[in-house]
Amino acid sequence: MRLKLGLIGYPIQHSLSPWIHNRFLEKAGTDGQYSLFEISPEDSFEKKLEHLKTSEINGLNVTVPYKQQIIPYLDELDWKAEMTGAVNTVVSNNGKWIGYNTDGTGYVRGLKEKYPSVFRDTSNRILILGAGGAARGIYQALAAEGFSRIDIANRTPSSAEAIAQSGNGGVQTAVLGLHEAGESLGHYSLIVQTTAVGMKPNAEEQIISLEHLDADSIVSDIIYQPLTTSLLQEARRRGASIHYGHTMLLYQAQYAFQLWTSEKVPICDMEQQLKNVLE
Ligand code: ATR
Repeated sequence: MRLKLGLIGYPIQHSLSPWIHNRFLEKAGTDGQYSLFEISPEDSFEKKLEHLKTSEINGLNVTVPYKQQIIPYLDELDWKAEMTGAVNTVVSNNGKWIGYNTDGTGYVRGLKEKYPSVFRDTSNRILILGAGGAARGIYQALAAEGFSRIDIANRTPSSAEAIAQSGNGGVQTAVLGLHEAGESLGHYSLIVQTTAVGMKPNAEEQIISLEHLDADSIVSDIIYQPLTTSLLQEARRRGASIHYGHTMLLYQAQYAFQLWTSEKVPICDMEQQLKNVLE
């Protein structure tokens, strides 16, 4: 059987997912094709999905702006997707569509690979900046790693409160304003920036001041491009360790591919290739 996989979202013409998944198919020796199914805001989302359902697709990735919008069209939702309120992967099981979210675990896997020592001491305090879908997934995945203190700072405190109350028994979470978070930065071993602030073309925008950053901390931004945000550049200038999201892109894809095919494709040789593409 030839596997039919693809991505829905808008705009997706520059997505790296076809490059990643077609390479996975090749590595796994699986006959298949990963294609782009762009759904523009003028299209009927429902009609496009119906068409995909009848075309017997085996698996989909879902990206901006449809990660939440797809949920009512699914037959089942995995617990991580439910907790996150967003879906980035759909598995079609005999026509039954099941929604998953591999973004948070993909991010954490990439971070763990680069900085395993942070994960060895679960009393290390973590600060998440932002409280959107990405922040929610990362919060859940870090909580699942056993960290006891994960604080959230956001421009709008109510969204951060909602994540803090989303039911992670063991984790203590304080909700902070962005300014307040900047003032208390020295308390955190890991700072995770999850918003679009600082992305091109506004690369000079910075979500918080790093004046109080401890040089022993790690500053991570989920942005894929290396060192393009002023936050990461300043963190490096101040002697802190830095991390960005290119490995999240690979690991979320690896987990999605595993859901579709049960194959865990090694990605070690793809990290440098991806860096070259992104630079
Ligand atoms: P995603 O799913 O990618 O996380 P999202 O759900 O739209 O995207 O969330 C965007 C996040 O970026 C939110 O935390 C948002 O803050 P608010 O909850 O206050 O809207 C944050 N954000 C976006 N633009 C921002 C800005 N200019 N300054 C501070 N935070 C910003």
